[in-house]
Amino acid sequence: MNVLILGSGGREHAFAIKLTQSKKVNQLFVAPGNAGTAKIAINININATDFEAVKKVVITNNIKMVVVGPEAPLVAGVHDFFLADEDLKNIPVIGPKKDGALLEGSKDFSKQFMQKHGVPTAKYQSFTKDNLADGFTFLETLTAPYVLKADGLAAGKGVLILNSLEEAKAELKEMVSNQKFGEASSTVVIEEFLKGIELSVFVLTDGKNYKILPSAKDYKRIGEGDTGLNTGGMGAISPVPFADEAFIAKVEELVVKPTINGLQKDGIDYRGFIFIGLMNDKGNPSVVEYNVRMGDPETEVVLPRIESDLFDLFEGVANQNLNEKSFSVTSKTATTVMLVSGGYPESYEKGKEITGSETVEDSIVFHAGTTIKDDKIITSGGRVIAVTSFGNSIEEALEKSYKSINKIHFDKMNFRKDIGFDLT
Ligand code: AMP
Ligand code: GLY
Repeated sequence: MNVLILGSGGREHAFAIKLTQSKKVNQLFVAPGNAGTAKIAINININATDFEAVKKVVITNNIKMVVVGPEAPLVAGVHDFFLADEDLKNIPVIGPKKDGALLEGSKDFSKQFMQKHGVPTAKYQSFTKDNLADGFTFLETLTAPYVLKADGLAAGKGVLILNSLEEAKAELKEMVSNQKFGEASSTVVIEEFLKGIELSVFVLTDGKNYKILPSAKDYKRIGEGDTGLNTGGMGAISPVPFADEAFIAKVEELVVKPTINGLQKDGIDYRGFIFIGLMNDKGNPSVVEYNVRMGDPETEVVLPRIESDLFDLFEGVANQNLNEKSFSVTSKTATTVMLVSGGYPESYEKGKEITGSETVEDSIVFHAGTTIKDDKIITSGGRVIAVTSFGNSIEEALEKSYKSINKIHFDKMNFRKDIGFDLT
């Protein structure tokens, strides 16, 4: 069967590697893909949110399944587009429709959903410019730090955590009245600050049945010791040592089951991944956010640990018989370290030649912001390559990743040397 992956990051390269290992996958296509996916699949240079272009690719190449990597095409309704099209309606799309994608596309919707279905989460209220004064009053009932979230997608920048009440009020006004994050912040969720340590749990669901995938923790800040600006993610580890069996069992009962049941009760036929961002406060989970896709770089440690055939699992999602599919995970630890362009997450240069990535033997090199030009691999984004290794411990896996990284070079390459620092 021919399969198309939408997206171009390390996450999509990880999907691509896993899917090419399946005997059932004939030809794999990635749109637009990167230099890593070009080696194992056919890249097609279209924008994943240009649905007419996606349709052409699907028809021309006899594609029988579409796997959606990033949230943008899901929130924009790629799955709905397929269902509404006579030629595409029987081609399964792995990823929710617009209604399910709102779990990520609207923080206000996801908070309402959690509250309605009893999923533990921080206390909250939502405000617009029309009830700004009520927003100020609500802020006064909370204690610092104050958490303000733009309702819509804001490229990962829409969450502000502020230490003073005055600042929180000023920022709230900026968000709702002056559109600090554009249309995305015309509604703002204000919520209680959650204490604890963060981790992510991933679920694959066919709408009725689910598999809980390995947990992961990512390192979002650019600087060592979790300092400096937020990035898309500088590294990740899986499993998370403090997310032991008892904790995951709690997450399943308190979060996963009510989420899946809630989707069903609300008539949302959800087929795809749910990425649950959690705070663990002394063994009690609370949901920070839902995403409707896999995480990046979390995928680069979660997928390599899955021993089962990923395509087989996706078929289970499409045919709603995920419960019949075998699912196993290695007990080994996986770690990934992201190599980024100098300057990222602020402005950075592209087009730097990458050398040595093909000489790495003890790690998996997942391409993210890379492309091919004149037969050379060059950088094309802020996050360039994720280097994943296995070990019996976090330390052992990281040692391998850091050794492998020594073989890879590009001008102004930067990476964190302390991934997992808080857990080892
Ligand atoms: P989100 O986009 O909702 O994941 O928020 C981005 C980051 O802000 C999260 O990964 C947390 O580190 C932090 N954050 C969000 N909400 C809260 C909260 N209620 N309490 C503490 N930290 C939070
Ligand atoms: N690494 C965080 C994310 O994918 O949203």
